[in-house]
Amino acid sequence: MNARERNHDEGPVSRADNPTVPLLPVPPVAAPAAGSKPAHGAAGRSHKHESARAQVAGAATYVDDMREARGTLYAAPILSTVAHGRLLGVDATAALAMPGVRDVILARDIPGDPLLATFVHDEPVFATGTVEHIGQVIGLVVAGSVMEARRAARKVQLNIEELPAILKVRDALKAESYVLPPVFVKRGDAAKALKAARHILSGQLEVGGQEHFYLEGQVAYVVPQEQNQWLVYSSTQHPGEVQHWVSHALGIDNHAVRVECRRMGGGFGGKETQAGHLAVWAAIAANKLKCPIKLRLDRDDDFMVTGKRHPFAYDYTVGFDDTGRLTGLKLMMAANCGFSADLSGPVADRAIFHTDNAYFLEDVEIASYRCKTNTQSHTAFRGFGGPQGVVLIETILGDIGRHLGLDPLDVRKRNLYGIEERNVTHYQMKVEDNILDPLLSKLELSAQYRSRREAISAWNAKSPVIKRGIAITPVKFGISFTATLFNQAGALVHVYTDGSVQVNHGGTEMGQGLNTKVAQVVADELGVAFEDVLATASDTSKIPNASATAASAGTDLNARAAQYAARNVKNNLAQFVAGLDGCGAGAVSFAGGAISSPKGSRPFPEVVRMAYANRIQLWSDGFYRTPKIHYDKTTLTGRPFYYFAYGAACSEVAIDTLTGESRVLKVDILHDVGTSINPAIDIGQIEGGFVQGMGWLTTEQLVWNDKGLLTTHAPSTYKIPAAGDIPEHFKIELWPEPNREDNVFGSKAVGEPPFMLAISVLEALKEAVAAARDGTVRLDAPATAENVLKALRNS
Ligand code: MTE
Ligand code: HPA
Ligand code: MOS
Repeated sequence: MNARERNHDEGPVSRADNPTVPLLPVPPVAAPAAGSKPAHGAAGRSHKHESARAQVAGAATYVDDMREARGTLYAAPILSTVAHGRLLGVDATAALAMPGVRDVILARDIPGDPLLATFVHDEPVFATGTVEHIGQVIGLVVAGSVMEARRAARKVQLNIEELPAILKVRDALKAESYVLPPVFVKRGDAAKALKAARHILSGQLEVGGQEHFYLEGQVAYVVPQEQNQWLVYSSTQHPGEVQHWVSHALGIDNHAVRVECRRMGGGFGGKETQAGHLAVWAAIAANKLKCPIKLRLDRDDDFMVTGKRHPFAYDYTVGFDDTGRLTGLKLMMAANCGFSADLSGPVADRAIFHTDNAYFLEDVEIASYRCKTNTQSHTAFRGFGGPQGVVLIETILGDIGRHLGLDPLDVRKRNLYGIEERNVTHYQMKVEDNILDPLLSKLELSAQYRSRREAISAWNAKSPVIKRGIAITPVKFGISFTATLFNQAGALVHVYTDGSVQVNHGGTEMGQGLNTKVAQVVADELGVAFEDVLATASDTSKIPNASATAASAGTDLNARAAQYAARNVKNNLAQFVAGLDGCGAGAVSFAGGAISSPKGSRPFPEVVRMAYANRIQLWSDGFYRTPKIHYDKTTLTGRPFYYFAYGAACSEVAIDTLTGESRVLKVDILHDVGTSINPAIDIGQIEGGFVQGMGWLTTEQLVWNDKGLLTTHAPSTYKIPAAGDIPEHFKIELWPEPNREDNVFGSKAVGEPPFMLAISVLEALKEAVAAARDGTVRLDAPATAENVLKALRNS
């Protein structure tokens, strides 16, 4: 391993060879030959993930791996055993008598606001008075070891008087039980269009939630500092939010709380808000006991306590012509939000924004209900409501194709957004970067969709038990936080006197490769090697008020902010060199680890040392805000998204009509990431997003029993895709065109959009079911063996 690799994998090595700073300028070496190309840039290449080696070697530190401060105690949560009830008493006597137990922390121990500082302010820190779901946290047991705390937490006696609970989203709808008021969006006149329609179909659909199943569970480690100041290590996508919540609960200023996150072992949206709860709980215990407290949920508790993807229920009526073109659409979407609002408002909004997916909806009426149930409070999950919008319109278009006896791909293509006309969304945003038609056509050819569809149909005719299906579905996903204010970011770039570079930004690393991409962009800007740039832990004391790393916008926002910071340093150096060489600063260039003027070239570290000696600033901040976006929250109209990311997938599946079991056989994907900053990472995101989407739609089933107990709360009963579920043929191609909007390096966001490509699997399953029976197919998600059997048998 050379020093550069070590630098990245195991943290910085000391550069003992740092020579003393020369006081006289070093003359440049001869100018490079005219026409010679600068060395290959750092961005646009498949550099391996900045922590890959350390992660494989077990040398990358997660919160639970950190060396603990002396006197650290461990907490475990006390959970409600009733879905809805009056909490009449908590008897901790037996728990306090258990070995190692130090204390029991309850709502009375909260020094600040007993409500969490969430957007809607509707969630208690610890339940008091009432409990609203099984698994709601009532308090903590603190003990000398993790296991002592967990055992004792089970011994706390809860006196809860049961109240009627609402567990199903359609029951909540009937009872008008909402966490937020309904939202209605319409364009044109859907009722009139439906009346005039040549064909009408009505239907219902239910789509399940999804557990994030990050490999690293939720964890917080709170270490008291001097003078009522706090250091919080949190596995969080949003350190700034954790800082707010902790200071709010402790009743102190934001500036007294510092939150750090080096990396997460996966977040997937599950650590956008949910990480804050653990940090607040641990901080309250640390405040009372005046010692460091660590709180890490075990897998079962993590399932019971934290929110998941929102399950949705839908009713729809659609009008269409003989060719399958939509003429009118009426939709009802009910989101199961759980017991509190959390992010349900923006999640349900994003579902509305994505009910069009790739298609022009002319006369449309959408009613969106944000239903309150006595379950965990559902939260962000990859796609953030987008998948729940897209799955509905794809279901509808598949239904139309099967109803009319047309190839659903033709129906889909007939409804795509146009270029010159039919190009305005139902929320009044013009689709300016539409590549849907050429992208779908390219995939249709490369995957040989038409001939395979024919071959499958012939094969099915001869196969009585196993049936196959194939489907292509597109994705158009809006990039930007729908709340315009979150689309801002900051970064710091430090150049040290040995020429090494450190970058820090407001984003967080959760495995998606953000730090790698940011380092690549900074390296490119300064013309140095990727290995010379080190990205460091997210830290609220370095970049304040940072947004969550979410909405797929991590690189768009933070890499641009970092690029601007690097540019400031570069400009300082360019001016300095211009002064030395008597040229304009614009004539100074940065590439291949050297800084060049028309007079010649000097190594980057050389110039840095000279600049330092001449008191030139070698570090800078950078700030970026996304241009062009605006939108009206009350009517949900405007331009909420800077641009769209596009893609399409072709999936082939087989079902066993006797058992309902299914397999995904072949997948071909064509996806648009603009000009890729790192193709290996982007393809990894596409693979991972697709497979996670497959899990949501096929095997991952959350089952709450009639008491409201989540009975699938461990890997024994909750089935995420395993290596064996990955299709044998899994081919991914990148669309070869830069982002048409001015985005960092010409790239596009990639984190969430590919998740929705997996809807092609659900559509292919319906095609397979349709090959085995007559009439329309209703297949709810997840398409477990039971649900596939139901789809085969129901009429
Ligand atoms: N990839 C990995 N490996 N782990 C994750 O937790 N989260 C996804 C996606 N890809 C996630 C991931 C989600 S929900 C989002 S919003 C984006 O990454 C966030 O990171 P980005 O904006 O930097 O792409
Ligand atoms: N996407 C993801 N996370 C978010 C959003 C969004 O649009 N808004 C608030 N948090
Ligand atoms: Mo991703 S759901 O926006 O964290």
